Amino acid sequence: MASFRTLFSALSLVAIAQGRPLEPAEADCRHCNCYKATVGSSAHFVNRKFFDFRSIANPTTPAPLNGREADVAAARTHAYFSTGEWTGTWALQNWQTEGQGVHRVNSFNNVFIAASEGDDEDSCATHLTLRTRREADYQSTAEVLSLSADYQFLTVRMLARTRGGPGAVTALFTYGEPGGSVQEADIEIRTSTDANVVQYTNQPGSEPDGTVIVELATPWTQWQEHRYDWTPGSSDWYVDGEKVASIQLQTPTSPLNVIMNVWSNGGVWSGVMDVGGSAEMQVQWLDLTYNSTSEPATGACTNVCVVDDLI
Ligand SMILES: *[C@@H]1O[C@H](CO)[C@@H](O)[C@H](O)[C@H]1NC(C)=O
Repeated sequence: MASFRTLFSALSLVAIAQGRPLEPAEADCRHCNCYKATVGSSAHFVNRKFFDFRSIANPTTPAPLNGREADVAAARTHAYFSTGEWTGTWALQNWQTEGQGVHRVNSFNNVFIAASEGDDEDSCATHLTLRTRREADYQSTAEVLSLSADYQFLTVRMLARTRGGPGAVTALFTYGEPGGSVQEADIEIRTSTDANVVQYTNQPGSEPDGTVIVELATPWTQWQEHRYDWTPGSSDWYVDGEKVASIQLQTPTSPLNVIMNVWSNGGVWSGVMDVGGSAEMQVQWLDLTYNSTSEPATGACTNVCVVDDLI
């Protein structure tokens, strides 16, 4: 016999099918066909995806595999990474490279859904973690690459923190090599620096004016909202809503990938991690609001929603 709850759901579906209006708030949200980062932003974008890692069942922190072959061959650590929400946008990476003193091996085993550490996070919460760990003869690392290389202008933000020992880099960036030359804009945290130092770059970083090193008001060991706005001619970076860097030199112009990674290769830039050392970037959620050459606007921008209001 159908319960009242089932009966009620069935009636709701009938109401929607008959075209009765939804609640106003819900209706506004469903009909956003355009987005801008904040009320004051001038740039707008036609696509938006929100990845919420805060409440995923069965979080597990996988043990390190300690072996290059095992790391390359590792399976996905959680069913979440097989869901359409994830696989529709992201691809876990397992390529390896010689490095600059320490061999680097990306592993699916280093991308996982972790339980809250219980400090400044809800004790039942979860988050996405990207981990790097120094093994005896290599560095086990993590990288998540967007499936699409067609992002062309975006506002991307994540609530994240970085923890762990010196000798690693944690990053969120755009990347591509159109016509053989690199276009890239980075948020990079080096665990060897003071915990409030972040480096922002329109690559190549060999141009001194392409990089800004910022001392933040709060340390990146705490949850911070890191945001990157890529608009024609400008890269602008924000932390917790405050603009902290703006670079016009070498702003990417071509369609690019979006990448998150946590790595070290023994080089001067990343530093050298002690054997047994590790570092992580933890992410509660990520908002990707963008234009894409493969997902063009389907109609006029009649209802601009503000990302600040949607999270
Ligand atoms: C995004 O695409 C829309 C529709 O083509 C366009 O109106 C808007 O200016 C684009 N945004 C940026 C930042 O280029």
